[in-house]
Amino acid sequence: MTGKKVYIETYGCQMNFADSEVITSILNGVGCERCDSVEEADYVLINTCAIRDNAEQRIHHRLRDLRAVQQRRRLYVGVLGCMAERLKQRLMVEEDNVSFVVGPDAYRRLPEIMTRVAEGVKVAETELSESETYADIVPVRLDGNGISAYISIMRGCQNYCAYCVVPYTRGRERSRDAESIVREARGLYEAGYKEVTLLGQNVNSYRWNGVSFAQLMAMVAEVSPQLRVRFATSHPKDLSDELLATMAAYPNICKCIHLPLQSGSNRMLKLMNRRYTAEWYMDRIAAVRRFMPNCSITTDVIAGFCGEEEADHQATLEMFREVGYDYAYMFKFSMRPDTYAAKHLKDDVPDEVKGRRLEEIIKLQGEIALENNRREVGKIYEVLVEGTSHRSKEQLFGRNSQNKVIVFDRGDAKAGDYVMVEVTDCTAATLIGRLV
Ligand code: 5AD
Ligand code: SF4
Repeated sequence: MTGKKVYIETYGCQMNFADSEVITSILNGVGCERCDSVEEADYVLINTCAIRDNAEQRIHHRLRDLRAVQQRRRLYVGVLGCMAERLKQRLMVEEDNVSFVVGPDAYRRLPEIMTRVAEGVKVAETELSESETYADIVPVRLDGNGISAYISIMRGCQNYCAYCVVPYTRGRERSRDAESIVREARGLYEAGYKEVTLLGQNVNSYRWNGVSFAQLMAMVAEVSPQLRVRFATSHPKDLSDELLATMAAYPNICKCIHLPLQSGSNRMLKLMNRRYTAEWYMDRIAAVRRFMPNCSITTDVIAGFCGEEEADHQATLEMFREVGYDYAYMFKFSMRPDTYAAKHLKDDVPDEVKGRRLEEIIKLQGEIALENNRREVGKIYEVLVEGTSHRSKEQLFGRNSQNKVIVFDRGDAKAGDYVMVEVTDCTAATLIGRLV
């Protein structure tokens, strides 16, 4: 594989981006070079997402675009990640320009698979593992800003939410060796990084040799007070006071928590197999506020799940008002094959009703975010500078501990600095400030 050029395109969640860094490391190890465009590439790897149908449609379109290049010259196309795992060899039947399909637990075999592909063989390798965590592989950070990096701390999910394809595409839950995580965080800090985000589908169930997630957070936070620590994503049913106490105790653990609600209706939560009620969820919100009055809270929500009625939708809106989220990822329900919902429930909310409900949630959330941001005016925050603002070269942007983006006139500051910024104005999405 020496000298072969590989172009990697990544879709989906942060976990996929972290995986692409592991893949780069594996391929560099056998002499491949990562390149920046399809034009230069011998191989194109598409790291895919399967969470909603439109995520998959995007990949199908992309694969069809690549055909044009393949008609001109030899180019091997491989599909990796969740969609590869879901469709397996079927994907190579549907898209005959794809030469290999590799699931999320089989990336160590990529060099061997890609060699066989060059010999004219088509390969599908989609075995899932109960132990693979890629713990010993040091990810190669090519796309980042040199300031903030992801660290994968666990893989898989076995919560089996009724709507979700992830347990089928990423397999059993397993936690990565805590010492390798701390080592990776230390390595990043020594290389100049200022922020790490610990990633897992449900970090609250992390456990390795008796180390809990809260203990792991403390271990990483102790690498340096100058290293910010974030995490994603939490399941409300498992959010412990122990974790909240640890977050409160370390100034460098960011005061921001992502707590996917999915629905505000107990009837829907039950159908979704979320294993908490709206009351339990509100109790966890109250706990977050008790431990950290200054913590921001963000969420995920699905509009139009199976059997959702107007009253269920109203309950979701009511929860949004009650919690007052700082940010929300909002989705229309998309039925995924093989899930509990696909087998046992009916996708019976008409698309226009899903769309209308989603619009109502988006509109409400816009108002809430603007209101929250207005309350920030006059406050002073420590901001980690990430780079030049997209709108003006004279301005920088960064984030505060609460993960809110703040834009300000650059002064003498530069990317990677911690600076104090006073908030002077805002929009629903951004705070505007000045250096103090
Ligand atoms: N349809 C719509 N949204 C979904 N999510 C997961 N599965 C589906 C689906 N089938 C959303 C959930 C989850 C986020 C990552 O994606 O809100 O938290
Ligand atoms: Fe998409 Fe879920 Fe896979 Fe991430 S884990 S890539 S969100 S399907």
